[in-house]
Amino acid sequence: MPVHECKITDNERVLETVRYVLSIHHNRSSFLINNKYITNSLNNEYINVDLGDRSYAIRIATDFGPLSALPGNGRKTLLISDTNVSPLYGNVCAAALQAAGFTVIPATVAAGEPSKNLHVTEVLYNACAAAGLDRSSSITALGGGVVGDLAGFVAATYLRGLDFIQVPTSLLAMVDSSVGGKTGVNLEAGKNLVGCFYQPTEVVINPETLKTLPEREYRSGLAEVFKYGLILDGDFYRRLSDAGEALRERHDGLLAGVIARCCALKADVVASDEHERGGQRALLNFGHTFGHAIEAWSGYGRMLHGEAVAIGMVFAARLSQRYGGLNGDDVELLEQNLTAVGLPIRLQAEADAWPDIRQRMQSDKKSAGGSLRFVLLDGIGSAAANRRVTESDLTEVWNVISH
Ligand SMILES: NC(=O)c1ccc[n+]([C@@H]2O[C@H](COP(=O)([O-])OP(=O)(O)OC[C@H]3O[C@@H](n4cnc5c(N)ncnc54)[C@H](O)[C@@H]3O)[C@@H](O)[C@H]2O)c1
Ligand SMILES: [Zn+2]
Repeated sequence: MPVHECKITDNERVLETVRYVLSIHHNRSSFLINNKYITNSLNNEYINVDLGDRSYAIRIATDFGPLSALPGNGRKTLLISDTNVSPLYGNVCAAALQAAGFTVIPATVAAGEPSKNLHVTEVLYNACAAAGLDRSSSITALGGGVVGDLAGFVAATYLRGLDFIQVPTSLLAMVDSSVGGKTGVNLEAGKNLVGCFYQPTEVVINPETLKTLPEREYRSGLAEVFKYGLILDGDFYRRLSDAGEALRERHDGLLAGVIARCCALKADVVASDEHERGGQRALLNFGHTFGHAIEAWSGYGRMLHGEAVAIGMVFAARLSQRYGGLNGDDVELLEQNLTAVGLPIRLQAEADAWPDIRQRMQSDKKSAGGSLRFVLLDGIGSAAANRRVTESDLTEVWNVISH
């Protein structure tokens, strides 16, 4: 494996670079090797994301390899991971890439949302240069949505675009962020303000990696799983409702199927509305208008995204009930389902928090043309975007949701 030094010449950046570590591993033995993920091949499922000449496959299998469907032929790939995921799966992922014929150059960023910024992007560009990547090279993202969004942005922009392999390891990344091509980083001014649509060349999902995902992160991902059922697939939603405990406890066999269904649903949405112009992709924002607002209001990092989305979905479901889309039993079942997997359904907030949260909903980038629109349910498994709601309905739902 080639070895490259990352030289930091700008003194002002040294402290920051310590925080946002980029380490080029000289010694592969620094990874913990877990061969279990190579040998336990139980299933193999492929889902196609149909985008003409940019179509790609999502492979779901309880192993990593050989990682790429495309022959590596000695081509280089910068394997970007984070400080939590790299020690767990970096080595086995690198081995699977090597088995597919790639020359692997690992790069590790500090785990967590703060790494998703332009400074770390630049550090990674420099790592690409130091590794001698050329137009035939690729970027591989191994990790959660932070690594995927960051690495995807590097892949989209370095040398005007390199092949990009997504290897998501968080539930959120498996069912949401690794599919669909949204890449980007945050600015001080807000999340995901810089980025572009750039589809991966393939997505490789190994549900076994979820066994090491921290409990709170796992539950947070489940909010997005329920979202797919609610907006697009009532049967799937009912299966999830029945799964209850098994879902919470990450039962083998259950997860691969659940992830596959979510990916298939997202793949259809992306294929029909890749750039979120037609309204179909906007349905995926169900629960997110209120969710984003309370995530920002509580201070980023306090509440996980999925926790905010869970409360946001209850908010949107209760609004849907007011507009005739759901009945009281539907709302009650949703609250039970979310509670059963350990997700919150109420916001702990004083009543006077409402004006601030209401204002934040207005400034959410998804509010079209100034007036506040919601994704509402017309029934379980059926949603519509851009629905107007009245101020009094918003306030009354707020009164139920907050305490
Ligand atoms: N591109 C998109 O379409 C899209 C969609 C939704 C969210 N996002 C973005 O995704 C990000 C959130 O993603 P996330 O929730 O995966 O966060 P994350 O990438 O920070 O991962 C969560 C935590 O889990 C750790 N982790 C990941 N996989 C692990 C594993 N298998 N074992 C042990 N630890 C593991 C990570 O190191 C991190 O500490 C946000 O930046 C959000 O904006 C993007
Ligand atoms: Zn989300």
